[in-house]
Amino acid sequence: MPRRPGPGAVLAETRTLRVRLGERPVLDGVDTTVRAGEVLALVGPNGAGKSTLLGALAGDVPADSGEVLVDGAPVGSWSAPDLALRRAVLPQSAPLAFPFPVEDVVRMGRAPWAGTAAADEDDPAVREAMAATEVTAFAGRPFPALSGGERARVALARVLAQRAPLLLLDEPTAALDLHHQELVLRICRAQADGGRAVVVVLHDLGLAAAHADRIAVLADGRIAADGAPADVLSEELLSAVYRHPVEVFAHPRTGEPLVLPRRQRVSARTGPLR
Ligand SMILES: Nc1ncnc2c1ncn2[C@@H]1O[C@H](COP(=O)(O)OP(=O)(O)OP(=O)(O)O)[C@@H](O)[C@H]1O
Ligand SMILES: [Mg+2]
Repeated sequence: MPRRPGPGAVLAETRTLRVRLGERPVLDGVDTTVRAGEVLALVGPNGAGKSTLLGALAGDVPADSGEVLVDGAPVGSWSAPDLALRRAVLPQSAPLAFPFPVEDVVRMGRAPWAGTAAADEDDPAVREAMAATEVTAFAGRPFPALSGGERARVALARVLAQRAPLLLLDEPTAALDLHHQELVLRICRAQADGGRAVVVVLHDLGLAAAHADRIAVLADGRIAADGAPADVLSEELLSAVYRHPVEVFAHPRTGEPLVLPRRQRVSARTGPLR
C-alpha cells in the first residue's frame, strides 16, 4: 500500500528525461519534480510534449533515457496494480465508448482497491467523486448519452474515485463551460490541500495563473520556464513560446496575472469577406 505522503514529499520526478516517438525526439532532457500539496500546471503550445510528459509520469510512455520516479522508485519497477494505487490518470481523449451507466464508469476507478482494506471506501469514494464533479444527477444514465462536457466530468470523477496520491490530468477543462472549468480547478486545489499532488495540463493561462502553485512551460520538448505563476508568465517568454504577441496584465482587483493574445483590429476598410 502507498504511504500517506507528508506535505512537500516528492511523489514523482523526471530526471533528464528523453523520449522519442517514432523517429521524433519529443522530450529532450526534461527535469521536473511533483510534490504533495502542490498543483503543477503544465502549459505550452500544441505538440510541445505535455501529454507525452504526463504519459511518462504515468508509466504509459517509456523513457529513451533519463529517469522517471514515482513514489521514490522507477515508474517501470511498479507492477500495474501497485502503480494504480499511486497515480490516477485522466487521458486527453477519454474513451467515449463505455457502454455503462455513469455510476458504473465512476466505480471503475475503484478497481485497484479490490481485495484491500480500502475497498470499504468504494461507496463513499464514488459518491463523493460524483458530487464533487456535479454528475450525481446523471448517475443512472448511459455514459454515451451524455454531452461532451458531462462525459469529461464523469471521466474526472472516475479518476478522483481512485483516490491515488498523484493525479495526472490531461486537459480536464477542455470541454467545460466557465462554471465547470472553475469547479475542476477548485477540485485540483482541494486535492492538493488534502495532501495529494496534481499535475494538470491546461491551455488557459489565466486558469493556470489563478489556481496553480507552479507553472511549467513546455516548448519543443523542453522546459522553457518553471516557477510561480507571476514569475513564469512574462510577455517576452510567452510571446516567444506561442509565436504570437502576448500581453500580461495584473487583475485590477486581485493582482493575478491575466494573459491575453495581442489582437489587431480588422480595419474597417478591408470590408466584409468575399
Ligand atoms: N505516437 C507518436 N508517434 C510519433 N510522434 C508522436 C506520437 N505521439 C505524439 N507525437 C508527437 O510528439 C509531439 C508531442 O506530442 P504531445 O501529444 O505530447 O503534445 P502536447 O503538448 O500534448 O500537444 P497538445 O496541446 O496538442 O495536446 C508532437 O509533435 C506529436 O506529433
Ligand atoms: Mg496533449
